[in-house]
Amino acid sequence: MGVKFEEVVKTYQSGRPAVHKLSLEVQTGELLVMIGPSGCGKTTTLRMVNRLEQPTSGTIYVNGHDVRSYNPIELRRGIGYTIQQTGLLPHMTVEQNIELVPRLLKWDKKRRQQRTHELLELVNMSYETFAHRYPRQLSGGQQQRIGVLRALAADPPVILMDEPFGALDPISRESLQTELKHLQAKLHKTIIFVTHDIDEAMRLGDRVAILRDGHLLQVATPTELAQAPQDEFVAKFLGRFLSSSQSPVASIQQLIQTGELHVLLELPSGERVVQIGDVPSWFLIDERGVLKGITYQMPEDAQRCEQTLWHEPVAVRETDTPDIALDQLALEDTSSLPVIDTEHRLTGIISHRSAIKALSNTVGRHAL
Ligand SMILES: Nc1ncnc2c1ncn2[C@@H]1O[C@H](COP(=O)(O)OP(=O)(O)OP(=O)(O)O)[C@@H](O)[C@H]1O
Ligand SMILES: [Mg+2]
Repeated sequence: MGVKFEEVVKTYQSGRPAVHKLSLEVQTGELLVMIGPSGCGKTTTLRMVNRLEQPTSGTIYVNGHDVRSYNPIELRRGIGYTIQQTGLLPHMTVEQNIELVPRLLKWDKKRRQQRTHELLELVNMSYETFAHRYPRQLSGGQQQRIGVLRALAADPPVILMDEPFGALDPISRESLQTELKHLQAKLHKTIIFVTHDIDEAMRLGDRVAILRDGHLLQVATPTELAQAPQDEFVAKFLGRFLSSSQSPVASIQQLIQTGELHVLLELPSGERVVQIGDVPSWFLIDERGVLKGITYQMPEDAQRCEQTLWHEPVAVRETDTPDIALDQLALEDTSSLPVIDTEHRLTGIISHRSAIKALSNTVGRHAL
């Protein structure tokens, strides 16, 4: 379920186009972040995907089909959408707001309730406390969380998020970003995520699209942007992420621990349990090498690993910048993180030890 924009133009009655010849393909399972100054056309772009706006010219495809070929109501049920001002319905409770789409899809009551419980738990808001409140009885940040949950409720393959964490304080924001990363590692949704915050963009985006005055200036992975911004404007936007700034480690490769990949066990399913060097983390990978799970405890006898509890892996991507990888290592409550390529295949590991080694090397160099 990818989303593709082909030469999309949107001109409102007056003035310059709000979106100008946008061509961009968002892959299935990709999280694409759109960033740019206020008024550059981000919200308009999202609204054209689910047909709340009509392009003046050009075509948008969802799952390979022109969006005009879908019934708009059906289309919107298949696309989660968090709007910029949360858009909660004031006369409905939290629970009713979350269950809006599941209700339209005629889920039975038990299934809906189970889902609402599960979702509220995800953002640390207890069902008992919050489910029966009205939006005006929530803080701005809590309203935003419910807006996000509403978009996730019916488990849609495509999600559009318009500054979903904009009203949150930095700490809740960071925890929801981490939550979204965990969720995405598990669910592989196709997500277009709009933000003003470059830190958020670089942390979350598989790729980041930078817009200005309706024009797409550059779309690339965080590392490509940091190393080769297309122009002054992009460079200025990237700020501290520019590779030429004081980042002590030049490339993510320097952080990666070297070591052999040992296969401890091959499972009948074709999956394998592997370890890299002697780092006490074990990974479950499928026959193509795609990372499926991680554990930090393995029985002495690996043959008995069927009892192992595999966790959802949160990984660093080879395309992340080194500071993003270090931030993530510091945030996660573990001593190492797997590294994956664009196909989600396990390619290495960054451990506290390898990170400190890389940093101390650069400290040593600067001291000379
Ligand atoms: N319904 C409308 N009628 C006329 N002009 C509009 C309409 N909606 C948006 N615009 C104009 O289109 C341009 C792009 O607006 P849009 O809301 O897409 O920007 P944005 O990038 O989402 O900005 P922000 O970061 O402030 O949310 C702006 O110049 C805006 O004034
Ligand atoms: Mg907007």
